[in-house]
Amino acid sequence: MKITNICCLGAGYVGGPTMSVIALKCPEIKVTVVDLNTDRIAAWNDKDLKNLPIYEPGLDKVVEKARGKNLFFSTDVDSAIKEAQMIFIAVNTPTKTYGEGKGMAADLKFVELCARQIAEISENDKIIVEKSTLPVRTAEKLQTILDNNGNGNNFEVLSNPEFLAEGTAINDLLNADRVLIGGKQTTTGKIAIQSLVNIYSNWLSPKQIITTNLWSSELSKLTANAFLAQRISSINALSALCEATEADIDEVAKAIGTDSRIGSKFLKSSVGFGGSCFQKDVLNLVYLCRHFNLPEVADYWEQVIILNDYQKHRFAKKIISSLFNTVNGKKITFFGWAFKKDTNDTRESAAIYIAEHLIEDGAEIHVFDPKVPESKIKNDIRCILELNGEVETKILFKLNQITVHNNPLEATHKSHAIAVLTEWDEFINYEWNDIYLNMYKPAFLFDGRGILEKNKLKEIGFNFYSIGK
Ligand code: UDX
Ligand code: UDX
Repeated sequence: MKITNICCLGAGYVGGPTMSVIALKCPEIKVTVVDLNTDRIAAWNDKDLKNLPIYEPGLDKVVEKARGKNLFFSTDVDSAIKEAQMIFIAVNTPTKTYGEGKGMAADLKFVELCARQIAEISENDKIIVEKSTLPVRTAEKLQTILDNNGNGNNFEVLSNPEFLAEGTAINDLLNADRVLIGGKQTTTGKIAIQSLVNIYSNWLSPKQIITTNLWSSELSKLTANAFLAQRISSINALSALCEATEADIDEVAKAIGTDSRIGSKFLKSSVGFGGSCFQKDVLNLVYLCRHFNLPEVADYWEQVIILNDYQKHRFAKKIISSLFNTVNGKKITFFGWAFKKDTNDTRESAAIYIAEHLIEDGAEIHVFDPKVPESKIKNDIRCILELNGEVETKILFKLNQITVHNNPLEATHKSHAIAVLTEWDEFINYEWNDIYLNMYKPAFLFDGRGILEKNKLKEIGFNFYSIGK
């Protein structure tokens, strides 16, 4: 089937960039990205490209080239569904915060709502593409909903998980290691798979496009994220051992990474991984294993999360113990709040958990992040306190312990310690001497990302701590 009209439900970190690149590379296809959030769509349509709702290097250029030509952002979900031959579902699938599977399973309520809406609105046959990360066999559930609520139309469900990483999304999309497309191995299923293969073939070679059955595709996404997260937890586990033995975690990572069987990527020790995917997907894998009565497998993967939590708490505890066992009333500056550099996304950022830990101990947290606004930072803390069941008066009290700055020097004025929590490049070349002079002495510096030069900072006078050294 030749596709000329695509729609995508969900204009978030995945839907927005992915559809922008498809529109850029397939000028003959009309691509409409829809979202229930009117503010978000307004931001995608903003004339000033600086106001796009997500910060992603290179995204503005892609949007500039395609928007208004064959790329459209809209809140008119029904019309977009009706017109499209192929519909991508890229709504969020957070970890459930209630009921059965709370804290573990993926919450599929948004995906299910999408399926119901598609079934109700559609006037002809459609290909439905799962872009959101979903538990294995979700396609089966989608198919059941679509078949039972539709007007007799035929729906082919494909799984096409997204592997882009935030901060490098445009490059990841343009030069993907691979695109994975899973579908039913029936005649109509194979035709649907080929329609999607044809789209990606506009800029990727056949070698980069892998086709599988539906379940392999769904499980591969969870597995890829679980393996990546596991590498980080492995190196972070060893960072604690390095500190106890005077080995250096960066040297160890380099030494093992040159073994081509291990490889050098994803071996950077850190304050703990964050982001919307790793924790959610590993927990989801754990939940699935328990569901299929595989407790040993579930426990194995759960350890990746336990270790990540340990790493975040270990860092917070290190700050407290170094500052003479209390941070009560002390000013602690955070450099970075985003879960990694080159994004304004803060979901599951280690900074949130470390801030919570230090606030509990009475610290005054002063944050500077080049891309994350105050409203987001305060909201992150509010959400975690609400999740912990704190009452409103306590929440307001604790929120007062956080101040957000838009200038790094101001954020460090009369500060007792700095914690580097995101690896933004600009932090490396700051005038650290000026920052040191600006602070209370002894001035502590905790490098949670291993980006600063230990010797140089010690020479300036900082009490310097870097993870795994
Ligand atoms: C994606 C994936 O889809 C998720 O499964 C994956 O694990 C992480 O990445 P992401 O794009 O990062 O999600 O989420 P988000 O930025 O929250 O965007 C989702 C969008 O869907 C939001 O803008 C939300 O308003 C929209 N939405 C949600 C709808 O339009 N309709 C709904 O019913 C629910
Ligand atoms: C991840 C996957 O990489 C991507 O393929 C998938 O589609 C979505 O989930 P993302 O979460 O955007 O992407 O970013 P990623 O670069 O994977 O980083 C995740 C977290 O791990 C960040 O907090 C990052 O700082 C941390 N990390 C990464 C480390 O601590 N050490 C590393 O060596 C690499």
